[in-house]
Amino acid sequence: MPESSACRICGGDVVAFMDFGEQPVSDCFLPPGSSAPEHFYRLVVGACGSCTMVQLLNEVPRERMFHEDYPYFSSGSARMREHFQGVAERFVATELAGDDAFIVELGCNDGVMLKTVAEAGIRHLGVEPSGSVADVTAARGIRVRKDFFEESTARAILAEDGRAAVIYAANTLCHIPYMGSVLRGVRELLAPDGVFVFEDPYFADIVRQTSFDQIYDEHFYYFTARSVAAMARRHGLELVDAERLPVHGGEVRYTLAREGARERAAAVAELLAAEDAAELTARATLERFRDRVLKAGEDLTSLLRDLRAQGKDVVGYGATAKSATVLNYCGIGPELIRYVTDTTPAKQGRLTPGSHIPVVPHQRFTDAYPHYAVLFAWNHAEEIMAKEQSFRDAGGRWIRYVPGVRVS
Ligand code: SAM
Ligand code: TMP
Ligand code: ZN
Repeated sequence: MPESSACRICGGDVVAFMDFGEQPVSDCFLPPGSSAPEHFYRLVVGACGSCTMVQLLNEVPRERMFHEDYPYFSSGSARMREHFQGVAERFVATELAGDDAFIVELGCNDGVMLKTVAEAGIRHLGVEPSGSVADVTAARGIRVRKDFFEESTARAILAEDGRAAVIYAANTLCHIPYMGSVLRGVRELLAPDGVFVFEDPYFADIVRQTSFDQIYDEHFYYFTARSVAAMARRHGLELVDAERLPVHGGEVRYTLAREGARERAAAVAELLAAEDAAELTARATLERFRDRVLKAGEDLTSLLRDLRAQGKDVVGYGATAKSATVLNYCGIGPELIRYVTDTTPAKQGRLTPGSHIPVVPHQRFTDAYPHYAVLFAWNHAEEIMAKEQSFRDAGGRWIRYVPGVRVS
C-alpha cells in the first residue's frame, strides 16, 4: 500500500508516487564547527485523487526554513535580475498604470522585482519573513514587512494600505502549505478588478525533464493549470491566464481574478487541454516518472564512483536547494564531490546540508579547474556556460543529470 495523506487543498486522498527518504532542510547550510543536530524529514511526494494537486506528504515547519539565516538571494543570477525587471516594467505599464495603484509582493526576497516598481514611484509592499533578505530589501529603500503572508497579514495590510491592484508571488506560493489562509487573505486584499499573479515550477516540465531535484521541502506544491483552477474556484477566484516561462527549468505564470471579473485568455483552455492529453497525474505517468528518477540516481552515482576510481577531480557547481535532494537521495558526499562552488557569501565556508560537502567561493574553481563539474544550478545553464568557457577550454567537462545523466 502506498503512503497517503489528506490533501492540503481539498481534503482528498493524496497518494504517494515517489519517496526520497530522509532529507535535511534544503537551505540549511552548516556553519563551520557546528555541533547542533540537523533536522531531517521524510521527502515523499504524491498527487491528490480528487483535485489532482501534486504535493508533499510531510511538512517542514516554516520557521526552520525561513529565518534570519535564510541564504537564498534572488539577485544572485543576472538572468533572473533581468527577468524580474521585465515583470516589474510590465506591471507598471499595465495593471499599475491607474491612479494610486498598490502592489503587494509575497516573498519579495532581496527586492529583485520591487526595486523597479519602487523606482517608478508606485505604492508597494513586500512581505518577506526571512530577515537575511528582508533587511537587504529595506536597505534598498523598498517598503517591506518582515512577516509570513497569511490571512491575518492580509487583514493588517488592508487596514493600513487598502486594496491591492496586484498581488504577486514568484517561487513563493508553492512554498506555502497553508493555502486556504493565503487565498482567503488574497481575496480580502485584492481590489475588485485586481489580479493575483504567481509563477512557480510547472509540474509538466518536471515530468518532461525528470527534474526530480525540483522536489524538496520548500517546494510543497507542484502546480498545473488543472490543479490551480480547482484551487482558485474553492476561494471564489478564477484562473484567467496561464503563461509558460523558460526560467528555473520551466515555470507557469498563473493569473487569478475574482470569479467573473476578467475575461479568460485562450491560453488557459489550451494548457488545460494539453495537460489532460498528457495524463499528467495519471498513475502510469507518475510511475514512469519514478522509474526515470531511479535510473537518473543510479546513473549519477555510478558515474561519480567510476570517475573517483580513475582518480579524477570532481566538484559541484551551484550549492542549490535542489542539490540537497540529489545529494542526499543518492548518498553522495565529499568522497565523490570535493567541494561545491557558489557565489553566495552566505553559503561559502559552510557545509551542504546532510551531505556535508564544503561550499567554496567561485575563485577556488577558477584558480585550479577540476576535471569535472556537476552542474547543480542547471536552471542557470545558459548564464553559467557563457561565463565558464575557460573551464571547457582547459579540458573541463560538465556533468548534468537533467534530463538524464550526461557528460559534455
Ligand atoms: N521571489 C523571489 C524569487 O523568485 O527569486 C524569492 C523566491 S525564494 C525561493 C522564496 C521566498 O519566499 C523566500 O524569500 C522566503 O523567505 C519567502 N516566503 C516563504 N514563506 C512565505 C510566506 N508565507 N509569505 C511570504 N513569503 C514567504
Ligand atoms: P537556484 O537554482 O535556486 O536559483 O540557486 C542557484 C544557486 O547557484 C545560488 O546559490 C547561486 C548559485 N550560482 C552560482 O554560484 N553561480 C552562478 O553563476 C549562478 C547563476 C548561480
Ligand atoms: Zn485535493
